[in-house]
Amino acid sequence: MRILNNISLKNLNTFGLDVSAKYFVTVESEEDVLELLSSEIIRNEKWMVLGGGSNVLFRKDYNGLIIKNDIKGRTVEKNGGVKVGFSAGEDWDESVAFSVENNYWGIENLSWIPGKVGAAPIQNIGAYGVELKDVFHSVEFYNVENREKYTLGAEECQFGYRDSIFKNKLRGKIIITKVHLNLSEIPNPILEYNGIISAFESKKITEPTLTEIRNLIIEIRKSKLPDPYFLPNAGSFFKNPVIGQEQYIELLEEFPKIPAFVNDKNRYKIPAAWLIEQTGLKGFKKGKVGTHQNQPLVILNLGYKKGQRIIDFANYVTREVKNKFGIKLEKEVNIV
Ligand code: FAD
Ligand code: EPU
Repeated sequence: MRILNNISLKNLNTFGLDVSAKYFVTVESEEDVLELLSSEIIRNEKWMVLGGGSNVLFRKDYNGLIIKNDIKGRTVEKNGGVKVGFSAGEDWDESVAFSVENNYWGIENLSWIPGKVGAAPIQNIGAYGVELKDVFHSVEFYNVENREKYTLGAEECQFGYRDSIFKNKLRGKIIITKVHLNLSEIPNPILEYNGIISAFESKKITEPTLTEIRNLIIEIRKSKLPDPYFLPNAGSFFKNPVIGQEQYIELLEEFPKIPAFVNDKNRYKIPAAWLIEQTGLKGFKKGKVGTHQNQPLVILNLGYKKGQRIIDFANYVTREVKNKFGIKLEKEVNIV
């Protein structure tokens, strides 16, 4: 384990921000984590863990220690179902590909989400009708303060829509080393998300295989979402706001076409992409930042080296949406 100084993070964040880290270390094993935890630097400097950098926005150079998580490995236990453990530095989508190749159902709808396994529980990643919590067994992590190792089950992680204990009580306090998932060899296709069934119908597929589901999800995602390599971004910049029935009914009177998805607690999830589009900001650019022309929930960095101007732009979008609909958009991206 070697601590490096003044390292560029340009290729380590999907916004392509040309920021640097005062100190930088790569951990490749739990032994590395333990060595780091007993070192001076983690006591004296501010620090953060970086996975694939696909959900962070660096406002400026990072004046502390970046811990790059590269712990690799996976374990498979069969006991009725299949419990698969992925180490935190494994690529998320490679882990989905591994599961699909081995005929383990559960995470195929989460195909093609960038990033590492270790970040998946942080915001309870979700897409196409599935969230990590649906297949989650447990997570292993170290608490930096007391250097102890912990394992938390699904209940304790307090998962919600793009939310967990790791974004709240344990924010900035832990290093996740492994995530265990409950997968299954029994087929369980989840196809209810808007557009999936019709896409299979048009392909004349009635009983899609795991591979067909993965391939379709990848196809849909590629058609909607910009590739960060060409158009740097961090996926959805904002969460979809969730509002109560009263507010929804009021909005419906003024905006009869407002789309909404009702959740089990009788709350209404409103697509932020629709709200932004209605304010006229779809495909809108200001300086070297803009919203994507196919999906305005995605903010593109068109050439800034530091994140502040992107934050200013996001705040402008937030204000416009608030003025028109009275809804305050919450950022999904982690601002550093
Ligand atoms: P990073 O961006 O590196 O880190 C995110 C946060 O997690 C940071 O606060 C970091 O400190 C913390 N963290 C990371 N690893 C650890 C660890 N081992 N221990 C402790 N803390 C850690 N997300 C979805 O949910 N659904 C989508 O459909 C989706 N689509 C996307 C599409 C695109 C094109 C892009 C660019 C992003 C998309 N995202 C999506 C967002 C992003 O991919 C996920 O949030 C992903 O889980 C982030 O992983 P990462 O390794 O890049 O995390
Ligand atoms: N819409 C518009 N205009 C647009 C695009 C979409 O009005 O230009 C409206 C439509 O009503 C559409 C609805 O938004 O039905 C939903 O659009 P989409 O299916 O593209 O999904 P989303 O709500 O915009 C969410 C996640 C994505 C995830 C997709 C698929 C959030 C914040 N985002 O986007 O996750 O991939 O669903 O499940 O929940 C991410 O978190 O980074 C991310 C990309």
